[in-house]
Amino acid sequence: MATSIIPGAYVRIAEPHEYAEVAWILTRGFARDPCMNWLGSVREMIPDYKDQPDYDSHPASAKKILKNLFIFQSALVKATSLCGGFVTVAIIPPQRKEDKEILAATTLWLKPKQPLELSLSVIVKSKFWKILLGWGFTGAKRIQLDFSPIVETILKKRFKARNADVLDSWYLLEVATDPAYDGKGLCSLLMKDGLGRTSPKPIHLEASTSRTRDIYSHFGFEIEEECWFGKGSVDVNGLAAKGKAATGYPEWIMTKHKKLAAFAEETCFRRPRHVSLLDSPVSHPTLVEMTNMIILAEFYKPKSNYVKHANSGVDDCLSDEFSGDRSFSSALARLYTPIFWAGVSQLLAQLCLDSIQDKLSAPSHKRK
Ligand SMILES: CC(C)(COP(=O)(O)OP(=O)(O)OC[C@H]1O[C@@H](n2cnc3c(N)ncnc32)[C@H](O)[C@@H]1OP(=O)(O)O)[C@@H](O)C(=O)NCCC(=O)NCCS
Repeated sequence: MATSIIPGAYVRIAEPHEYAEVAWILTRGFARDPCMNWLGSVREMIPDYKDQPDYDSHPASAKKILKNLFIFQSALVKATSLCGGFVTVAIIPPQRKEDKEILAATTLWLKPKQPLELSLSVIVKSKFWKILLGWGFTGAKRIQLDFSPIVETILKKRFKARNADVLDSWYLLEVATDPAYDGKGLCSLLMKDGLGRTSPKPIHLEASTSRTRDIYSHFGFEIEEECWFGKGSVDVNGLAAKGKAATGYPEWIMTKHKKLAAFAEETCFRRPRHVSLLDSPVSHPTLVEMTNMIILAEFYKPKSNYVKHANSGVDDCLSDEFSGDRSFSSALARLYTPIFWAGVSQLLAQLCLDSIQDKLSAPSHKRK
């Protein structure tokens, strides 16, 4: 998993000035998506990118669909960031000197306990209100009243059955690869990075096509429930329909749960010994354990590890075994750094005391 066939491709956090480009990737990626068709009251399918890659050559009706989708995606990207989430991008580095790097795929993540709350300030700052101009009240109603409450209810019920709280889980809001780079392993790169950043807490998401459902299953997600939206108004592709054709379209609500106990054991006990610090300069057993903790925490510290993650073989090999939790690790770092130095001070004090005691208890003729 997670080796793109594009040489040098890597993942990083998107800069705010790149959000428009991110929204464009999402627009292109979701241009034929059943959920977006339903939300946007779309009547005809946008041509497949493979058949018509030049968007400028699309008819006016298709351009309007894309424009409205772009408004929605732009708002979603900004709202994600405003609500404390993060946006990652898969980058294709320049192949020649005169080339620029290309943003080719993206993911939007919302952190546990920081849901997408459309407060007045978020609506204004992210320009969510503009959705009304594009998709109208029908679109807004479908998002706020038809889709979100049903998904939330199902997730709440499922998490409760596991004695967990859905609010305490990550939400993978969207993943998209620019159709020009589809099937080249960029989604895998993003997922590997994302799974490495998320905590041992669960992740939830929705898949709106059978293909994406299968891709998420491939990454270890389980189906919680299949539910149908737009019954009576859209067909299986989310396009406006009537009568028998208006079956609605399916969404799969999926989750990935990590076992906290196994994670803690691996992080705190097995991993330090596994990393082992064979050439550790310290020999006191407690100190070795503490040093191991610091090094482990440093390894999985947020951000600092980021670029290294894409290039370093060592980091890659660790991440393969450990879809680690950097926020947990940085908490460890915060916790263990003072303990570590307290340990060092205590050890030095002990050594001084030992040597003073040795001197005092030495035979008196030696002291003379
Ligand atoms: C879904 C999507 C993100 C995939 O992106 P991609 O960059 O083409 O995907 P990748 O090439 O990285 O393939 C992803 C992984 O899934 C696997 N995969 C691909 N098709 C699969 C299928 N039908 N069933 C199971 N696994 C599949 C691949 O083998 C790969 O795994 P690997 O790296 O272990 O070999 C992209 O097609 C897209 O943007 N679709 C439209 C938007 C969308 O539907 N997003 C998801 C819903 S939020």
